[in-house]
Amino acid sequence: MQKQQIRKGFSKLNKEQKIHLTTSYFENPAKAAAELKSFWHNDPDIQKKLDEFAENTISNFFFPYGIAPNFVINGNMYLVPMVIEESSVIAAASNAAKFWSERGGFHAEVLSMTKIGQVHFIWEGEAGKLRSAMPEIREKLIMETDHITENMRKRGGGILDIELIDMSDEIDNYFQLKASFETIDSMGANFINSCLEEFGLQLKRFLKEDKRFKGKEEDCEIVMAILSNYTPECLVKTWVECDIDEFDEMDRNMDAQQFARKFELAVRIAQADEYRATTHNKGVMNGIDAVVLATGNDFRAIEACAHTFAARDGKYTSLTDISIENGKFRYELTVPLAMGTVGGLTSLHPLAKFSLELLNNPGAEQLMMIAAAAGLANNFSAVKSLTTKGIQVGHMKMHLYNILNHIGVTRTEKEKAVDYFKDKKVSFSNVKEMVAQLRKGNS
Ligand code: MEV
Repeated sequence: MQKQQIRKGFSKLNKEQKIHLTTSYFENPAKAAAELKSFWHNDPDIQKKLDEFAENTISNFFFPYGIAPNFVINGNMYLVPMVIEESSVIAAASNAAKFWSERGGFHAEVLSMTKIGQVHFIWEGEAGKLRSAMPEIREKLIMETDHITENMRKRGGGILDIELIDMSDEIDNYFQLKASFETIDSMGANFINSCLEEFGLQLKRFLKEDKRFKGKEEDCEIVMAILSNYTPECLVKTWVECDIDEFDEMDRNMDAQQFARKFELAVRIAQADEYRATTHNKGVMNGIDAVVLATGNDFRAIEACAHTFAARDGKYTSLTDISIENGKFRYELTVPLAMGTVGGLTSLHPLAKFSLELLNNPGAEQLMMIAAAAGLANNFSAVKSLTTKGIQVGHMKMHLYNILNHIGVTRTEKEKAVDYFKDKKVSFSNVKEMVAQLRKGNS
């Protein structure tokens, strides 16, 4: 039980001291410290890098790193790296990838790459006056951020536009500078935030210096300057399509038409009902997040954005859409994915770097298409299982390994258990009982 006391100066302790203090709450501090250290990387340089990604770090938290093979995306074959702690996700992605690889693979296109940032400010004055000064304000902000945007401009990116948004209807005297950016292969958070903070300073300077503004109008309060993680214009679409007849062997109890009809119904339900939509989209994000993590991208940003996008028309709905026409099945996913392949963790984390190399060092657009395809693959497999044999059969088979590891079995016991449960229901109690019997020599 932790003592209820404010701990001052924790961040000033060195790593050993932090471990010492943390493990002092355990019954056996030496054992707890040894456990923490057992997850350190054996190369001190790499460990130092990992430590420096965050603050107060005392160990590493391992997640499985797996591969979903056979992903054909726009005719190119990929081994897709996935970091995920949930059993079945990589298996589901792999199954869908294999199925669609024999039916033209995943098609994908990036629809746009624009990112957004905002300077939120309070200004007391007549909105029309500010609006009429916007051409000069825009020019000044772009000029005064030349030194920040120089490299990005050389790479083909930079500031695309800056517009004034009047939100004084919502909050008294509240305005925004809403800027759009092209950040090429980087996620661009630092670049965008640096530009925005400079915009704030320069806006204040402009209002002070420009003769049109008098009295209170000469100043504004910059409340904050920050990128928006909602990037509906950093958008990728991926889809699969085939003749319905191709679903002939999808399920023992249904023909191809019945399968397609039931699959379509499941998607329509996710479009109509937000409870189902949330779980449906969670299945999409299983694939996307796993690729986002494996490539050192920011999964919180991706998650936040995807769900805002899913509610863009005022009601939370499915990220996927389906059409069944003239005997053809087409299933698609449209999702904003602000991902990067340069900067951030992408080159600092050794395994993120490895993932990108495995994917043939893609640009951001290519990576967006790969992550989206993984999302559609996972969702396709989930909806297929749900509408045929149910999710638990496959899920619990994979879960069997977790249960066996939790119980703590030998390799031989594991092999016997996997064989035994081939045609039986997996549950924690069933597995525990089977292992107990095995140990008694009865199985
Ligand atoms: C589990 O991680 C994901 C699913 O619940 C998705 C879905 O229901 O579509 C299987």
